[in-house]
Amino acid sequence: MKKLLIAILFSSLVFSCKNNNKRGLITNQAMVVSAKAEASKIGTAILKQGGNVFDAMIATDLALAVCYPYAGNIGGGGFMVYRLEDGSIGALDYREKASKLATKDMYLDSLGNVIPGLSTKGGLAVGVPGTIAGLFEVHDKFGSLPMETIMQPVIDLANKGYVLTTKDQAVLDDKRLAFLEVNKTPILFSKAWKAKDTIKQPKLAKTLKAIMLNGRDEFYKGETAKKIADFIQKNGGIITIDDLASYEAQWRQPVTFEYDNLNIISMSPPSSGGICLGQIMLQIEDYNLDEFGHNSLKAIQVITEAERRAYADRSYYLGDPDFVTVPQDQLLSESYIKSRMSNFSFDAATASTTVSHGKVQIIESDETTHYSIVDQFGNAIAVTTTLNSGYGSKLYSQELGFFFNNEMDDFSSKPGVPNVYGLIGAEANAILPEKRMLSSMTPTIVEKNDQLYMTLGTPGGSTIITSVMQTILNVHEYDMTMQDAVDAPRFHHQWLPDTIRMEPDSFSQQLIEQLKAKGYIINEENADVIGKVDGILVLDNGQLEAGADKRGDDTAFGF
Ligand code: GLY
Repeated sequence: MKKLLIAILFSSLVFSCKNNNKRGLITNQAMVVSAKAEASKIGTAILKQGGNVFDAMIATDLALAVCYPYAGNIGGGGFMVYRLEDGSIGALDYREKASKLATKDMYLDSLGNVIPGLSTKGGLAVGVPGTIAGLFEVHDKFGSLPMETIMQPVIDLANKGYVLTTKDQAVLDDKRLAFLEVNKTPILFSKAWKAKDTIKQPKLAKTLKAIMLNGRDEFYKGETAKKIADFIQKNGGIITIDDLASYEAQWRQPVTFEYDNLNIISMSPPSSGGICLGQIMLQIEDYNLDEFGHNSLKAIQVITEAERRAYADRSYYLGDPDFVTVPQDQLLSESYIKSRMSNFSFDAATASTTVSHGKVQIIESDETTHYSIVDQFGNAIAVTTTLNSGYGSKLYSQELGFFFNNEMDDFSSKPGVPNVYGLIGAEANAILPEKRMLSSMTPTIVEKNDQLYMTLGTPGGSTIITSVMQTILNVHEYDMTMQDAVDAPRFHHQWLPDTIRMEPDSFSQQLIEQLKAKGYIINEENADVIGKVDGILVLDNGQLEAGADKRGDDTAFGF
């Protein structure tokens, strides 16, 4: 009886924390949800002026580069998935790429061992940035407002400054020593900034103005390009003006798959996001997740086992499709998906050592950022962009006013050796000149009964894919509001290491003990949150609901 009472009490506690019916911002026509209020506001203002979702994307992306330099950037890259009002879909890859001078063993010593820090800090960690090329590509194809109208509010924000939050201060405090170590001299962001201080960035404003006036070539072929190449080389890097001049963003066909009555549209290689998301969701589709209950023992078992199998494949098969053949159709085929779960049993965990393809692990930085936008015309985008680690390589040009990425660490420096996210890569993701490094970014759009239903994504390195999946399931299987869906506790498994990472203070000890009894190893040391999902849900009445993750400063605006 006592056990029964405890069980009832426990299940009601779990229920109340999983389904608060808390609604995010509701709007009638349009919405921007991003990591920062300033960026969401600027994006919304562009929509209000009659701009479309792509105009708002450019403004929001650049505003994040100003007010969220932790991950927002012009020195990095990203991915965008779109769905137009008429139902047509597409994706843009503005991922960084390796220099033409890059070599497979550029991060190894004479004995063939990885030199710690070389692919994560300073000039050699930098990949050729793609953000400005991506934004101009979007503008050329879909933009409706002049670039001056879109960029001027961002330049004004850089000049007037943005006000630091407590969370901004915490990440700056955390990285201050690394800024000084990499840059040798103090930089704007190495000052002892406090919450409520205003950071003005006149140098970044000047760079943005030059780009606004002279176009994308300013960054890739002009004065700014020369300064970038010179600066990176002076700091131990290998990127040349020729690398910058040769960079092109690429339009890609998104990955699509069906789950129940949903059609999921997500990012294709060189991101692993769409394929891995598809593999996990297709493997779990036949299980009664809603009957098992949200974050119940059985639900966690099924999802974990599907994740284990999908990440094993990710490590082995996925890489830049311009360089390797990615067997996308086979990996998502019904027969293959069914065969993957055939040895799963609710009785005990499957050991990762028994799941091929092995000998490869995943490590990726989790300091990316995501934003979602729906415009008043019915177009939707999901965009994830990054410098890789927080503030990227930590290399900051005082003259140009921005940080450079350390995306080279997303390659497998040495197949079999984990990167900063613990991800192990194989030959498919080995370094080659001009190749794009594999990503986990998973900007995703969901249709229900052929209509726009959701747009979402998240930062989180290797946890991006599983966070996006759990958020979709929270809405679809567990009837959560968008806000509850993004706030709900998350867990993650990525094949190797063979552990389930669970958000701290979010799962009961009883559940953890039950999982351990089945043979699962729980990672209880990692006290970090998992992901910061930003999404938009189209409600039955056509209104939009925001899910702005409570884990960050994430904020929605709209009308
Ligand atoms: N740098 C993180 C990712 O691309 O997934």
